Amino acid sequence: MTFTSLKPLIETLISSTEKTVEERLKNICELLESEIPHYNWVGFYFKNGDKNELKLGPYVGEPTDHTIIPFGKGICGQVAVSNANFVVPDVAAQDNYIACSISVKAEIVIPIFVNGENIGQIDIDSNTPDPFTESDERFLEFICKKVASIL
Ligand code: SME
Repeated sequence: MTFTSLKPLIETLISSTEKTVEERLKNICELLESEIPHYNWVGFYFKNGDKNELKLGPYVGEPTDHTIIPFGKGICGQVAVSNANFVVPDVAAQDNYIACSISVKAEIVIPIFVNGENIGQIDIDSNTPDPFTESDERFLEFICKKVASIL
């Protein structure tokens, strides 16, 4: 399914107020993982209270040991401090990278802002080398804005 056709489905999930926010985020992960062939692990990390660390939220894919990630560590931890998108075409070329699975070749992390504050992120792993384009960034920024509206 194309990003354009997925956007209204995301909006429908976001506005499903009969579900909890956790359930809606999990549904977004499920939709993305099932409809986008190069999205193989899809999850949310959020700032853990007032600690300088991220905590794993809803996700779809292989279970990960990395349920807590200190700010600055790995791709996710770097985005927590840089406030910028991080697109990694080849995870093997990254020094500051936390491996979750040997099948992962590439990763994209997009921050989520609420009232200008970086409060979390969507993290996607791909088993395909160098799969992400600017279209992925724009699409995921769209999702992050929608998610921010229900947090
Ligand atoms: N690879 C990430 C860790 C999280 S897993 O991809 C689920 C990182 O380097 O921050």
